[in-house]
Amino acid sequence: MSSKGWTIEKALQTGVTMEEGAYNLYSNASKMVKSSGSKQMLKELAQDELKHMEYFEKALKDPSKVVADAQTALKKTIKDLGVTDPLKEPELSPDATYQEVLLYAIKSEKNANIFYLSLAKEFSGNNIAKVWENFAQQEAGHKQKLEKEYDDVILADN
Ligand SMILES: [Fe+2]
Ligand SMILES: [Fe+2]
Repeated sequence: MSSKGWTIEKALQTGVTMEEGAYNLYSNASKMVKSSGSKQMLKELAQDELKHMEYFEKALKDPSKVVADAQTALKKTIKDLGVTDPLKEPELSPDATYQEVLLYAIKSEKNANIFYLSLAKEFSGNNIAKVWENFAQQEAGHKQKLEKEYDDVILADN
């Protein structure tokens, strides 16, 4: 299913909610793990997501800082972003194990990466495309860290 009718404004709002969800996910996960290495990694991820959320919040308050021709660009509708709305993905169960949390997080990071890449492509030419490319890279980096954690902690234990 693809989502139609995206605007930069909707993308920024979706970004805020999505990044807040990621922040909560890593904050909660950092409390459930005992290993200090895992705790540290999850806290760092949480901080990255918090920065992403704050960036989008600022951008919504003052779009002219991140979007060229903000007044027109913000409301301009993209025909088809070609991705599923990240906010419509299923939620993680509150009693999930650390293994389930990691798998969920890896999938979310992949979705975030695809979401930001599609936005960058769709708005190429606007200066916000660079922002989204940068975010896409960061989320890909998060996914790698989580995959390494999965190998080190979950696979090593079995
Ligand atoms: Fe993020
Ligand atoms: Fe992330």
